[in-house]
Parts: sequence; C-alpha cells; structure tokens
Amino acid sequence: MTRLAILDDSASVRANTATPLEPTIATRKLYVHTFGCQMNEHDTQRMGEILARKGFTRTEAADEADLVLVNTCSVREHAVQKALSELGRLRQHKHTRGTRIAVTGCVAQQEGDKLLKKYPEIDLVLGPDNIFQLGALVDRVFSGERLAYAELDESPGFQFLGSESAGVRSGRTSAFVTVQKGCDKHCSYCIVPIVRGAEVSRPLEEIVAEVERLVDSGVADITLLGQNIDAYRDPKARRFDALLRAVGGLPRLRRLRFTTSHPNDFSEPMARAMAEVETICEHLHLPAQSGSDAILKRMYRGYTKQRYLEKIAMVRALIPDVRLTSDLIVGFPGETEEDFQQTLALVDEAGFDGAFVFAYSVRPKTPAAPWPDDVPEAVKRERLHRLNDALSATAIRRAKRFVGRVQEVLVEGPSRTNKDVLAARNRHNHVVLFSAGGEPIAPGMFVPVRITAEDSGYSLRAERVSTEALRCA
Ligand code: SAH
Ligand code: SF4
Ligand code: F3S
Repeated sequence: MTRLAILDDSASVRANTATPLEPTIATRKLYVHTFGCQMNEHDTQRMGEILARKGFTRTEAADEADLVLVNTCSVREHAVQKALSELGRLRQHKHTRGTRIAVTGCVAQQEGDKLLKKYPEIDLVLGPDNIFQLGALVDRVFSGERLAYAELDESPGFQFLGSESAGVRSGRTSAFVTVQKGCDKHCSYCIVPIVRGAEVSRPLEEIVAEVERLVDSGVADITLLGQNIDAYRDPKARRFDALLRAVGGLPRLRRLRFTTSHPNDFSEPMARAMAEVETICEHLHLPAQSGSDAILKRMYRGYTKQRYLEKIAMVRALIPDVRLTSDLIVGFPGETEEDFQQTLALVDEAGFDGAFVFAYSVRPKTPAAPWPDDVPEAVKRERLHRLNDALSATAIRRAKRFVGRVQEVLVEGPSRTNKDVLAARNRHNHVVLFSAGGEPIAPGMFVPVRITAEDSGYSLRAERVSTEALRCA
C-alpha cells in the first residue's frame, strides 16, 4: 500500500500563521506520546533526535509544548481510540498556545490525509517510512502548512534510520536497533503488513556498525527489532543466526535481546546461537496466538499446536533455563469453547513464563475483516480473564525456580509504585525489584542481587549481594 498526500488547506494556513505565539527556535518544546510496540518507541527516539537538531527540547507537560507528536498504533481498535482521545485532549493547547500537532506511526500510515480532513487540529500526518523528512516538514508546519506524508518504501535499498547520539551522552545503557522492517506473514487478523509494508532487511555490516557506535558511547544492552525478525535475510543472504553471532560477539556488549520471533521461522541455528553466544539473553518471545489447530489455520499462522510444542522442545533442549513468553488472542471469529480449551491446554503444556493476551479486534483491510466477529464481547472478556488466570498460575510456578539464585540485574530506575525500591531487569527479562539500602545506585548500572521471592510471576523480589557472591554463583 503506497499513499502520498499533501494537503495545503489555505484556510488553516491563514489560521495557523495568525497565531501570535510563534516560538523562537531556541525555546521550542516537544511533547511526545508513544503508543504501540518497540518499533514505535524506536521511531520516537529517532524523531526526538531529528527535532533536537532543530532546537526542540523534550517536555513532560503537554500544555507547555510548541509541538506535540502522537505516535500511534493501529494493531487493535482500542489502541486507535486511545490515540484519538489523546488528540481530543491536546486540542485545547492549540487554542491557548498555538501548539502544532503531528500524528505519526501506524494510524498515520493507515489513514493518511483523511486524518487532516477529519481532524482540523492536526497539522502533520507522517507515516513510519517518512520520518527522515520530519526536519524539513516541521519548518513548513510552523510556517502554517498542513501536510500528510505517508508513503511506504518497500525497496530493498531502504535507508534505515540509525541512532545518532547514544549511550553516555544521552545517559542510556540500553538501546534498540532496527534490523528489519515490515512483515510478509499476513496473518489473517493483523494490520501490521498493511501499515508497515513488506519485509526489508538491513545489511548486516550496517547493523554491526551501529551497535559498535552504541557500545562505544556506553550502551551495554541492545535489543534487535523486527516484526518477523527470524525471517531476517540481508542483501547478501545472511540469515538471523549469522546476525546474532556477529552482533553478540562484539567486545564490551553485555546483553543482546531480539524481538519478535515467529514459530515457523525460529530455527535450530538461531537457538544454537542463543545457547553458545554468551551475550544473548535467555529469553524467547514466541507468539503462539492460539492452541487450536482450526483457529491457527484460519489465522494463517502455518503451524499446528503440536509443531509449536516441538519448536519449544527444541529450544528448551538447547537452552534449558530459557524464559518463554508468548502472545495469545481470544475470540477470533468462530472460536468455540473447545477451541479456547485448546489454548488453555497450551498454556500448561508449553509452560509459558508469561504471555500477553488480547481480545480479537477486527482490523480494516485484513483477510479476516469480512468474517463475522461472532464471539460476543462478554465471552471474549470472560475468556481473557480465564486465560490470564491460567497464565499467572503457570508464570508463578515457573518463576519459583529463580528464588535463591544470585543474578546480575540492570537497573532501570525507581519502581513506579515505591520510590525507595529500584526496578531492574535480569537476563531473563523479569522486572526485579530490590532496595538500594541507602547506596547510590543509578539507572544503567549492573548490580548483583539474590532473588528472594517471585512477585505475581512477572516480577521478582531481590536483595543486594556482593560482587563476590555473583562470581561464586
Ligand atoms: N510481529 C509481532 C507483533 C505483532 S502485533 C508478532 O508477530 O508477534 C503484537 C500482537 O498483537 C500479536 O502477536 C497478536 O497477538 C496481537 N494482535 C495483532 N492483531 C490483532 C488483532 N486484530 N486483534 C487482537 N490482537 C491482535
Ligand atoms: Fe502480524 Fe503475523 Fe506479521 Fe506478527 S507475523 S506482524 S502477527 S502478520
Ligand atoms: Fe502497533 Fe504499528 Fe507496532 S500497529 S504494534 S505500532 S507496528
């Protein structure tokens, strides 16, 4: 899907240029609200860098912003509605301060210039492949134009936007690196291939060079990003296992993660790379989506429950301590109670350490869009609850194996609910909560802790121990 639209609405041009509050370059403030997946988080960081070069500084207060970016997700209708209601809230600042509003991300790609026509408060619509144009477009927006650029670039030579600044300068220890964009899987329920286009993989050398730059500037924890990352195949036909080994072997890199995998494409060579390369963390996110073969078939997933279980058996044979998480959808068209029971059974048989559960949401232009959305909302909600209960029970059971272990965790900052408690991450990607005990421990530090308890299965509690204890562990 390729769409390009430039809307030059002279009425709004006049309205915008009449704004008395045109900010000077030096004082411009940027407020960003990001919805959706890590792809969007990564895009937000890139847009922040482009705008920093134009003199924008970030603010957490929308009412003092000169420019607002709403980076949207369209994977479920609920996500679209949340972004649109955020726009409604931001409208008031436009009247009081002359704030310019940009809508970016997957809803921008999906709707293009229709958004400008429907929402007069929007000044700029920018699709994910048009981010590189943001610097030039923002000047035009501040001189009064209303613009929509949403053009997918599916060419093999697509120029990926890497991180410019990094690490210590921006105070970051962790960073995302995009290795692939788009998705060719076309699962029947999913809008991602429509809004992000066909798969394009980035050349291996370019990825290695970016990770080296990040590591040089202090980053120690890298997450490689791709919607269907195991299908990575660069212009020289190098596969994902080769990329894992090339990046994972870089000196001074401490942790390497990747997301998202697909059960058909995740291969034994990739699991071997995980098992053999020390930096690659013991966590695999492998979305199963359903445990019913009939539903999997209509989802166009291309595997059966049995094949999924065989795949994870292969992974566990090579990496016995791996933490396995998943995505599951309830209420797909035609899902019966028996189908749902198969998904419940899968939770137990697969022994998931955690999973995200979603109620099916009809997405425009997907293969499943014309099929009757025939599972009532109340039944979807009830299945969501039952599945979450089953998942917490399994996650708690699985998390108990960590209690008593000494692990190194990467500190992220104070916990959201208690400022005296630090939130960190172990290699398995659990949130680990512990008390600093009066010591100055900054975000980005690696700290040895002993796990003392599991906390709901998704997070663990811990206490500080000496570095010596870690060496002995
Ligand atoms: N490329 C990734 C991420 C896709 S979106 C992957 O394949 O896993 C993240 C999750 O959203 C999907 O795994 C799926 O569980 C869920 N999802 C996608 N489309 C959906 C829809 N129409 N309704 C409900 N959940 C959906
Ligand atoms: Fe969507 Fe399927 Fe692609 Fe994941 S693999 S992004 S669920 S189409
Ligand atoms: Fe959402 Fe787009 Fe990511 S639809 S899940 S933000 S790729």
